[in-house]
Amino acid sequence: MAVGGGLRAVRRNALSGDAIAPGDKSISHRALIVGALAEGETVATGLLEGHDVLRTAAAMRALGARIERDLAAEGPIWRIAGGKWRAPERPLFFGNSGTGCRLVIGAIAGRGVAAAFDGDQSLRSRPMGRIAAPLAEMGADLSLEDGKLPGAIRPSALKAISYRMPVASAQVKSAILLAALGAKGKTTIIEPTPSRDHTERMLAAFGADVAVKADEDGRTITLAGGGALAARPVEVPGDPSSAAFIAAAAAIVPGSDVLIRNVLVNPLRAGFFETLKEMGAGVSFEKMRDVSGEPVADIRVTAAPLKGVDVPAARSASMIDEYPILSVVASFASGETRMSGVEELRVKESDRLAAIEAGLQANGVATESGADWLIVKGAGGVQGGATVKTSLDHRIAMSFLVMGLAADKPVAVDDASMIATSFPSFVAMMRGLGAGIAPQ
Ligand code: S3P
Repeated sequence: MAVGGGLRAVRRNALSGDAIAPGDKSISHRALIVGALAEGETVATGLLEGHDVLRTAAAMRALGARIERDLAAEGPIWRIAGGKWRAPERPLFFGNSGTGCRLVIGAIAGRGVAAAFDGDQSLRSRPMGRIAAPLAEMGADLSLEDGKLPGAIRPSALKAISYRMPVASAQVKSAILLAALGAKGKTTIIEPTPSRDHTERMLAAFGADVAVKADEDGRTITLAGGGALAARPVEVPGDPSSAAFIAAAAAIVPGSDVLIRNVLVNPLRAGFFETLKEMGAGVSFEKMRDVSGEPVADIRVTAAPLKGVDVPAARSASMIDEYPILSVVASFASGETRMSGVEELRVKESDRLAAIEAGLQANGVATESGADWLIVKGAGGVQGGATVKTSLDHRIAMSFLVMGLAADKPVAVDDASMIATSFPSFVAMMRGLGAGIAPQ
């Protein structure tokens, strides 16, 4: 079923069965970008074919990479022949994707080609100064409109820098690392709060001279510029941020028992599952294994009565995309769930703190919030009955559809089209587990 227009979710029976999480969005972007920078052919399997990632693939083609997609029995195989980059003929368009846009701008700076770029209304409203500042320090010639898109970059020589991250952001860190590949000297990044480390892991696997040291100061990443990258196969594991919607539904719909196969459980991404367990849901990691240098497991989730918990600020980077769905789960719990250190939610695909609160309150859930915190007052159940405004935000759309699966009255979302940016099979997969989701 095509995911467009509005959708409505209703309570039905328990959810049961197996689901396979779609490819991890963060690793998929990186496979395309790092593959396009490397000499030789990178073969990627399990790649997420969501709109955001397809935009990155299109950008890599425009920058000179040869990218082909074959369909094999076990799924699509992406072949990325990289090496030399050239200036694209037209502005690169990143749609809704902050990750694609910020990482590619960093990589372009390192390659010294000229390019212009733009995004949709949501991306045009997001801060780009956070990558522009360190890139300018390296010598990049990047122009933006008031720190936002549209923008352009002109070729210039880069030098290595030492940079202490002012916010926990894997996008900013990755933009600097990708630029540093083409800079003279050793670039050092200090992260007081560690963020997802897929770029470091993948660059090391492709032969970059990158080292990571963790101590009481946080994490320090050092990368030596100038070396060549060599192509290698990438098997993209399932996305924990997408699996979170399935897990949340299984946790709140009474009697549910669901197995989500092939999920990335990198500790810098697993905060949501830890929190769900603390709230009382049955959560177990089965068949732990290594896939292309990343830890992967099958995750079984069973429903149970849930209680409100305190989610510490130190955990926020490891579940930053999961606060919308956690807030929905928290509305079904008994007692307050307090989330702190969540100011970054204000600059995601939407102002997520505002969107979460508006959606919860419309469905009868009490909340309180400040600049960097949110309290959801769980009452053991949710009234529902409202249509939620999704504000061009895929995670807001999926979160409130999950709410409708357990609320007393149906919950609708006004626009579900953005779900295709990260989880095109969401509706079909949820329906396969028994969920009642249909066009409004
Ligand atoms: C991502 C980093 C996070 C996350 C985004 C994906 C990445 O953003 O919210 O969905 O792949 O590097 P920030 O770097 O802005 O925290």
